Amino acid sequence: MSAAQYLSEGRDFIDAAICRYLPEEATYPESIHKSMLYSVLAGGKRLRPILVIAAAEAVGGNRHDVLPFAVATEYIHTYTLIHDDLPALDNDDLRRGKPTNHKVFGEAIAILAGDALLTQALHIMTHSDLMDAIPSASLLHAAHDMTRAVGTAGTIGGQVVDIESEGKPVDAETLEYIHVCKTGHLIQACVRVGAILCQANSGQLDALSTYGAHIGLAFQIVDDMLDITADESQLGKDVGSDLDKKKATYPALYGLEESRKKAEKLVEDGIGCLEVFDHRADPLREIGKFFIERTS
Ligand code: IPE
Ligand code: IPE
Ligand code: MG
Ligand code: MG
Ligand code: MG
Repeated sequence: MSAAQYLSEGRDFIDAAICRYLPEEATYPESIHKSMLYSVLAGGKRLRPILVIAAAEAVGGNRHDVLPFAVATEYIHTYTLIHDDLPALDNDDLRRGKPTNHKVFGEAIAILAGDALLTQALHIMTHSDLMDAIPSASLLHAAHDMTRAVGTAGTIGGQVVDIESEGKPVDAETLEYIHVCKTGHLIQACVRVGAILCQANSGQLDALSTYGAHIGLAFQIVDDMLDITADESQLGKDVGSDLDKKKATYPALYGLEESRKKAEKLVEDGIGCLEVFDHRADPLREIGKFFIERTS
């Protein structure tokens, strides 16, 4: 199966369940539920839940068993996007081809919608739908990993240094910290939790962790490049946004060509970590390649 086919089928699989764990729009207070559903249903590639599934399948697991946890990762990711776009952070107007959440619902509701999506994700991680197939010790392990990845040692830490570095000269080490933390850790955690939930052994988990770390950093390097090279309608978000805010980015420090080389090397090395796996890890290999080939 090609990467495009796996990603499109994976997206359909996730989209069929994406609303299952959210209150309906008409649930009181309606404004918050409308706001949450607006961003969750705005589209998106669903790469993080697809990585959960692909890692689960690489170690012989079943995608249905990890589905609620995979959906939870998309709620977390969507929360980070809503908050990332706020005027106090990146102040962007366009996301997933639509006006950003705060543009439609106002800042207060957008902040609360982000909080609510994160909270709902935590709630699902111990949902009874997961309990039949997954041992509770594995659920705890996965939840422990995932929550660390999005806290101050991960997403939040990266976002803080990203914001505090605007307009300042940034060295290579700080830039790598920002990208690994704000984006890489969540991607890595998605790979890890898919494997943890399906009883990966420690060798498999170590290999997948290193794969996840490599492709996670590559993903953000390419995101920086697309902010310069992509077409706004295809990207579905504001282009040139990083330059406007004098963000610390790979193209700003290394130039576009060197950034591409770094991303390619990371993906190559990441895929190299998967040697211990058979053909069931082919989707992970293909997703790695897609991370550098993508145009949106
Ligand atoms: C965008 O992520 C935010 C970053 C971490 C760079 P995606 O490019 O995966 O966004 P969606 O989910 O497809 O909208
Ligand atoms: C995103 O970094 C990191 C997140 C935690 C969402 P960016 O600020 O570059 O993401 P985009 O380009 O707005 O999607
Ligand atoms: Mg940002
Ligand atoms: Mg942004
Ligand atoms: Mg960006």
